[in-house]
Amino acid sequence: MPLSTTTQMLQNAKATKTAVGAFNVENMEMAQGVLDAANEIGCPIILQISTSTTKYAPINIFVSMIKAMADNVAIPVALHLDHADQSLVFDALKAGFTSVMYDGSKESYEENIRQTKIIVEAAFKINIPVEAELGGIGGKEDDVSDQVIYTDPIEAAEFVKKTGVSSLAVSIGTMHGVYKNTPKLDIERLKSIRDVVDVPLVLHGASGLSNDDLKKCIHAGICKINFGTDLRVAYTQGIKEYMNQNPNKFDPRVYGKIAKERVRAIVKEKIAAIS
Ligand code: G3H
Ligand code: ZN
Repeated sequence: MPLSTTTQMLQNAKATKTAVGAFNVENMEMAQGVLDAANEIGCPIILQISTSTTKYAPINIFVSMIKAMADNVAIPVALHLDHADQSLVFDALKAGFTSVMYDGSKESYEENIRQTKIIVEAAFKINIPVEAELGGIGGKEDDVSDQVIYTDPIEAAEFVKKTGVSSLAVSIGTMHGVYKNTPKLDIERLKSIRDVVDVPLVLHGASGLSNDDLKKCIHAGICKINFGTDLRVAYTQGIKEYMNQNPNKFDPRVYGKIAKERVRAIVKEKIAAIS
């Protein structure tokens, strides 16, 4: 199938009180692993490219590759740009991404609204949905460490109304990267946001969360769940184990296949937990 936007898949998730898995991929094998998992289950899927991944390889490479992969399956596949600034969002819109996240969470509240509105206006002209972030997801992503700033429900309602954004990433205690301590999620805050915000809500930093926490978040209004670190760990672990057992081997296709399988397996587990 041609690439889909995230609009319908997130609306369906909202209506059925499930969530769509959004998985960060960094190369062909990771993308194949994610798609193989979704295709086996037969569910819609979001593949995400982060800002640092667009520095690893040009975004048009990812667009061509993931379009070709989507053409080979019968499930809806969206290609989403994750945590980007304005300039990269515009590049991604031109390149053919079918969903974008403008992350203005480090700006002041007013500036975040102003910048998000500019993106919404441009993206909606070509029917591409926009995710924005309010508050701050803490932790480490793309070599940047940040503090958690919880999303305020009243601000969230105003933010969505003023920007017209399609979905909203909220901060309720999750963090990017590997958790040092068990995260304590503010589910009551999430419910308060859901009660006053109509658009689908997005959970970032989901690697390392228990299935129970994931389910609580979905029950409280989350419709899209982002996983990155868990995939990186699974992929790398597969290669490490193979190389430790076979130190003299050097065929990237052999260990690439093992890494891809590890990604497929973890993605299947995550999809089963959230759908
Ligand atoms: O935007 C990407 C996600 O929030 C990934 O977070 O690497 O902690 O799973 P994670
Ligand atoms: Zn994130």
